[in-house]
Amino acid sequence: MCGIVGYAGRRDAQPILLDCLKRLEYRGYDSAGIAVIDENREIGLQLFKAKGEIAVLESQMPQMKGVLGIAHTRWATQGKPTTENAHPLSDCTAKLAVVHNGIISNFMDVREALVKAGHKFTSETDSEVFAHLVESELKGDLVKAVTKALEKVEGTFAFVVVSAGHDEIVAARRESPLVIGLGEGENFIASDVTALLKYTNRMIYIQDGEVARISKDSVSIFDQKGDKVEREPQKVTWSLEDAEKGGYPHFMLKEIFEQPDAIHDSLLGRIETVEPEPFFHGSSFSNVKIVACGTSYYAGLVGKYIIEELAKIPTTVQISSEYRYSPVSKENPLVVLITQSGETADTLGAAREARKRGNKTIGIANVVGSAITREVDHVVYTRAGPEIGVAATKTFVTQLVALYLLAMDLGMQNKSLTAQARRSMIGSLRNFPRDVQDVLNKAGEIESLAKKYAQARDMFFIGRSINFPIALEGALKTKEIAYIHGEGFPAGELKHGPLALVSKDSPVVAIAVKDHTYEKMLGNMSEVSARGSPLIAIGFEGDTELPKYVDDVISIREVPPVFTPVPVIVVLQLWAYYLAKARGCPIDKPRNIAKTVTVE
Ligand code: G6P
Repeated sequence: MCGIVGYAGRRDAQPILLDCLKRLEYRGYDSAGIAVIDENREIGLQLFKAKGEIAVLESQMPQMKGVLGIAHTRWATQGKPTTENAHPLSDCTAKLAVVHNGIISNFMDVREALVKAGHKFTSETDSEVFAHLVESELKGDLVKAVTKALEKVEGTFAFVVVSAGHDEIVAARRESPLVIGLGEGENFIASDVTALLKYTNRMIYIQDGEVARISKDSVSIFDQKGDKVEREPQKVTWSLEDAEKGGYPHFMLKEIFEQPDAIHDSLLGRIETVEPEPFFHGSSFSNVKIVACGTSYYAGLVGKYIIEELAKIPTTVQISSEYRYSPVSKENPLVVLITQSGETADTLGAAREARKRGNKTIGIANVVGSAITREVDHVVYTRAGPEIGVAATKTFVTQLVALYLLAMDLGMQNKSLTAQARRSMIGSLRNFPRDVQDVLNKAGEIESLAKKYAQARDMFFIGRSINFPIALEGALKTKEIAYIHGEGFPAGELKHGPLALVSKDSPVVAIAVKDHTYEKMLGNMSEVSARGSPLIAIGFEGDTELPKYVDDVISIREVPPVFTPVPVIVVLQLWAYYLAKARGCPIDKPRNIAKTVTVE
């Protein structure tokens, strides 16, 4: 999610590091920093950090002397986007510098132990613990110290470390990518090939569990047992623009494919404990009100079903711009504000209004330190990473994850969810990355079907119960990306009006997973096909009934009904994406809409 670069060579490190770092700026970061080691050992470690874009760092940093260094642009996940929390992070001796991508899930425990041992911390980040761990282990060999420190951390990460007195960079990864770039008399390391393409196209990818030592003349990689690994470099043929999108033609597709990782990161450290810390100590809520706009509003509508099922608390959902005109509820609800950007003016206004009404508030946001986080009592961050495509995809799916976590928390608090039921829910949450990956593996099949229907002028989406809001979100995606008039309906409502519009030119997409509404869905689908509309169904694998009712079926792996929205929406994201591709639409920047809306 953040950007890492490192350089070991013969040229001045500072301008090269900065140049590489700027290649990662398309992700939109919140703070940046750089550390350079003076090879003559006169100055040692020089470190500078700044809040804001890389340009701020560039304009404020002093000139640094040295041919070895690391730099980082941060997308905050733990600790606000401040100068103190920016990377590199150092230790007590101020000789080490560490940059980190990912999440150290056990950092609280590690930090506590380090503080007891006398370490002083200067940031709120999880990353800083790694600098102190390496410091405690450093007896001369930096690779050994990093390897020892790694034994104490859990989670996902890419670490890159430099230390005054060592003419090398040491790097390690678990699940977060790192790539070494090979030059002549100089070598590089980065989180993304994009950062390095100007300097080299010969790359060695570090694999999970490996530790690498990079100096100007050599690169060594070690496996978990400490044995040396031989790996041939690969030639990358991407253009810079391709590389920014990770080889995908659009950010939207890249972000759809990032969802298994985004879900994994959003769950990390939040489902491991048997008795988790409640979001609100000693509070119990007789009802919940969810307030949001756009795609986040549809996440809220799904959230209503999740909370009512898992926590048995009546939940209402309202569009942010309408909330302030609603009557004050006597029941003092918990108000949940969902906003990926954290900056949507209407949702911020709603948060202020909720506080004025004396309600407890929770924000679900993707941007750490964004405006909403200052307006609410408690924040649950989604950890989707930066989303560049205007259409929300991975932020929507991680909002759903946050809502499952919130519902479980409320259910445990009011005892409507037993510990055993929670365990089984956690099992389903853990399966999400796999369930989503299954859908992604069907992208080719979904593309072929989308091509078949791409010339439609209207498209209807129907679902029942928890998949009704997913039908709405599917329709929204189709509208905004593919410019097809799309509308979502509760399947039972078709006969109360919309059927008048159904014809052979208006395909209907039906979400027909096997839940308590399945039989009724089959009935509604018959109503549609009787009127000559092409019908596409999303159902469970192995359902032999569905093909009898519809023209085409897209199957997903069976999951418990309350968890179906996640795999189903991924089908509909791909559906909208491939419709738009077939129609030649400007997918990442649809006309007339913006990613963040700061006007009311
Ligand atoms: C804009 C975006 C939508 C988003 C909505 C709410 O309209 O184009 O994708 O769903 O704002 O944004 P928020 O940041 O509050 O989730």
